[in-house]
Amino acid sequence: MSDLSGHAAERVRPLIRVRQFRDFLDRQVATSELDSIADVARWSGSSTNTQPWRFIVLRDRAAIKRIADAAMPQTRGLLTAPAAIAIVLPDEQGQAVSHAYDEGRAAERILIAASMLGLGAGISWIMPDYRDAIRGILGLPKDRFVRTIVAIGHPSEAAMRPKSAPGAARLPRSEVVLEEKWPQG
Ligand SMILES: Cc1cc2nc3c(=O)[nH]c(=O)nc-3n(C[C@H](O)[C@H](O)[C@H](O)COP(=O)(O)O)c2cc1C
Repeated sequence: MSDLSGHAAERVRPLIRVRQFRDFLDRQVATSELDSIADVARWSGSSTNTQPWRFIVLRDRAAIKRIADAAMPQTRGLLTAPAAIAIVLPDEQGQAVSHAYDEGRAAERILIAASMLGLGAGISWIMPDYRDAIRGILGLPKDRFVRTIVAIGHPSEAAMRPKSAPGAARLPRSEVVLEEKWPQG
């Protein structure tokens, strides 16, 4: 029996509330909060438990701003961020899909952990043309790169406002969630 409005739905609602924030108050994130979020990230599951990632915790606003400026517009969510976590991956063509999958799992957990702490977070992608610039700012060796940097902070009121009309933030459930097999005919 599905239970779309009852107890189960209420219990998972905190996950549904995890959103993408791109604007933050001028307020520090506590060291213990950032450390806890980084621990959640490193406990993410990965393909054959390889843990291909390294997480660089950024607490220096000037450095975060330099990264934002270097890779706009995808990095606009970093412009006001007081903290961020960069996900560093090995640059190995043969493992690209597996690493991207693992990276996505870790990024989403960072968003969830931030939300559980009453913070907000947002994914910024570093597009390939800007990877060398970010490599330079973060001092990465040639065989590592960053595609995802997650901004973390206390979201501004503007950032917390709904981005879409009620009911329009996601495709209708009936279009996305299918039962047993692909709809026929
Ligand atoms: C793989 C991936 C890459 C993303 N890249 C960016 C990005 O570069 N810049 C950005 O501002 N948001 C980025 N986002 C955030 C999406 O735009 C966001 O999740 C989507 O708009 C839904 O937002 P909501 O959860 O607040 O409704 C990315 C999300 C994903 C899953």
